[in-house]
Amino acid sequence: MTGHVLAIDQGTTSTRAIVFDHDGHIVSTAQREHQQIMPRAGRVEHDAVEIWTNTEWVVSTVLSQARLGASAISGVGVTNQRETAIVWDRRTGRPVHNALVWQDTRTQPQVDRLAAEGGIDRFADVTGLPLATYFSASKVAWILEHAPGAREAAEAGHLLFGTPDTWVVWNLTGGSRGGIHVTDVTNASRTLLMDLRTLDWSDDMLAVWGIPRTMMPQIRSSSDVLGEVSVPGVARGIPIAGILGDQQAATFGQAAFDAGESKNTYGTGNFLLVGTGTEIVRSQHGLITTVAYRCGDEPAHYALEGSIAVTGSLVQWLRDNLGIIQRSEDVESLAASVDDNGGAYFVPAFSGLFAPYWRPDARGALVGLTRYVNKAHIARAALESTAFQTRDVIEAVVADAGRDLSELRVDGGMTRNDTLMQFQADILGIPVVRPQVVETTALGAAYAAGLATGVWSSRDELREHWREDVRFEPRMPEDERARRYRMWKKAVSKSLDWVDDDARQLAGTTG
Ligand SMILES: Nc1ncnc2c1ncn2[C@@H]1O[C@H](COP(=O)(O)OP(=O)(O)OP(=O)(O)O)[C@@H](O)[C@H]1O
Ligand SMILES: [Mg+2]
Repeated sequence: MTGHVLAIDQGTTSTRAIVFDHDGHIVSTAQREHQQIMPRAGRVEHDAVEIWTNTEWVVSTVLSQARLGASAISGVGVTNQRETAIVWDRRTGRPVHNALVWQDTRTQPQVDRLAAEGGIDRFADVTGLPLATYFSASKVAWILEHAPGAREAAEAGHLLFGTPDTWVVWNLTGGSRGGIHVTDVTNASRTLLMDLRTLDWSDDMLAVWGIPRTMMPQIRSSSDVLGEVSVPGVARGIPIAGILGDQQAATFGQAAFDAGESKNTYGTGNFLLVGTGTEIVRSQHGLITTVAYRCGDEPAHYALEGSIAVTGSLVQWLRDNLGIIQRSEDVESLAASVDDNGGAYFVPAFSGLFAPYWRPDARGALVGLTRYVNKAHIARAALESTAFQTRDVIEAVVADAGRDLSELRVDGGMTRNDTLMQFQADILGIPVVRPQVVETTALGAAYAAGLATGVWSSRDELREHWREDVRFEPRMPEDERARRYRMWKKAVSKSLDWVDDDARQLAGTTG
């Protein structure tokens, strides 16, 4: 039996393997979480070896659950948390440091120094990105500077850099015994090191950060046969036929292939992408320019993106740090136990604010508190912050495009929350549409691999798979919508200008 595709989704909180059939339906799923290592405020790390061990486990588990041998799988697609930086020794396969996760802000001093010389947009023309700790470059530079012996080993050509896609594919294809060192255009576009026009590493940008070119993976198309799996006991011989960064994969999985088509994914953070076709469009309102996908030898497709750092992870924070809920999904009933937010607004600027503000000096603020406010109001304010932050990004999209959006296509774990989806529609004033498959990240990676191996013939064929589940229509009166949104903007203003010399000295992060 062929026509099945395996997707590996190496996310921020977990690694999943999902087998899809020819109709894009899920046949089997396996998932394993990995540890979030937070040595101190502002630092977020992953153990790359744990991530690889989990990947091996989910792949072999999902295949045995599906009762499918390697020969039944036409191709593997890999999708991943983006920007997270791993540096390892090609001779041993051992990472020289824990992975620095995209949320990690330890490199703010280096970023500030570069921004002081030419502003945060000094590299935007080449890379499409503002200068921010979020992207990979400063993390790689930090590892080279701080891991013992790393600089010398890198100069000698022994070290490799990769985002998690690169790390997983290198290990899947044999690791130190001949693994291929590749990434795709979408992941490369998140490093601050790739030239958006040439789709190649920029020597100027590598020089800015002091990163030797020998460390850099080859940049490939998102949908293309790259190599084959070569892990004893794990699915030997299957072609690896696609790589997409998780947000681009979700866009692909929503069949939003063309200019003007968009999706908003609600996971650890929220990421809204709007396609701009083969044209590179620059935002005037705080969105970043990114590669959406590239199929084989076709020209690359680009997108504008609104990245929000903290949405679902705020729900996890309520669970893990405050303990006011037991499981993430409990936030819905707690929030629904009160009629409104009781006057409380929660700006979760835990890593500063990303789009459209790009304010690293912001920190989390819970404002509007009175003695009346209880944990249910806080749960509600936390959920509402996801919807308000989404509106901030949509305002930027509308301002850039010069026209309104007619509806918002959504996906991701948080979209199972109907209370949130209804509030989202209310606060946007447009319908919010949830598809039947909300695992669009894995689906997109499967699509990329299936297109390259002939499981599907065209992107038009994939469009036919998309099915609407629920459409949330806005019900809030216009004046109330406007009033609540103005309150949100006021709350955002309270979160700004928090990190200053005093805050840095006290946190011991003067770099
Ligand atoms: N019912 C719910 N209401 C609100 N938030 C929820 C709900 N269920 C899950 N979440 C949140 O959604 C997030 C998980 O979504 P999803 O599975 O799409 O993310 P993910 O893909 O695992 O994230 P990543 O790829 O970054 O690891 C978690 O942050 C969780 O707190
Ligand atoms: Mg994910």
